[in-house]
Amino acid sequence: MKPPEDLITVLAEDHRELNQLFTELEVLSGGEPLRRSLTDQMIIEAVRHAVAEEAYFYPVIRERLPDGDLIADGACGEHAHLEQIFKRLERPDLPDDRFSLLLSWAIISARRHIVDEEERIFPLLAMYVSPETLLSLGEKAKSAKAGAPGRGTPSEPQPPLLHTIIKGGIGLVERVRDHLCGPGRAYSLTSRDPE
Ligand SMILES: [Fe+2]
Repeated sequence: MKPPEDLITVLAEDHRELNQLFTELEVLSGGEPLRRSLTDQMIIEAVRHAVAEEAYFYPVIRERLPDGDLIADGACGEHAHLEQIFKRLERPDLPDDRFSLLLSWAIISARRHIVDEEERIFPLLAMYVSPETLLSLGEKAKSAKAGAPGRGTPSEPQPPLLHTIIKGGIGLVERVRDHLCGPGRAYSLTSRDPE
């Protein structure tokens, strides 16, 4: 069994996995099925990460950090902006050049968000929050992420493109949030769309 991990370690591991996906996506081109499939996986991983941050990272930022509300509001706004790009990427009829442009935009925005968290916010968190609290939040964040659809291995048969599986007219971003938060509670953890 893995030893307990603190919140910064758990979120940094997500960032590492997301950065790996971005790098893999950048070497692919056009609208080939593998590229679209990896983009679906990127959207799932990014939304799963965002839900964990909104549940366990931003609340402690608001509570403990100087100007915490300002920092958390900015980060939530960046999540909302990214998910708008993801929703546009989900469209199955997107021409290849438009898809490439949106994908680059998503990757640039996500990398900027990750660098800001790692270089500015994580050090503040370590300064203002006790190691015990960070450990407890890390374990909670890990269980919050569990259960979302995971990433397959290259040897596994390719599943159908996830954004093309329409369920009740709901797109991939909402489906991942529904899966993790429960139907109708998809945005209840964020400050941008309170219940
Ligand atoms: Fe993050």
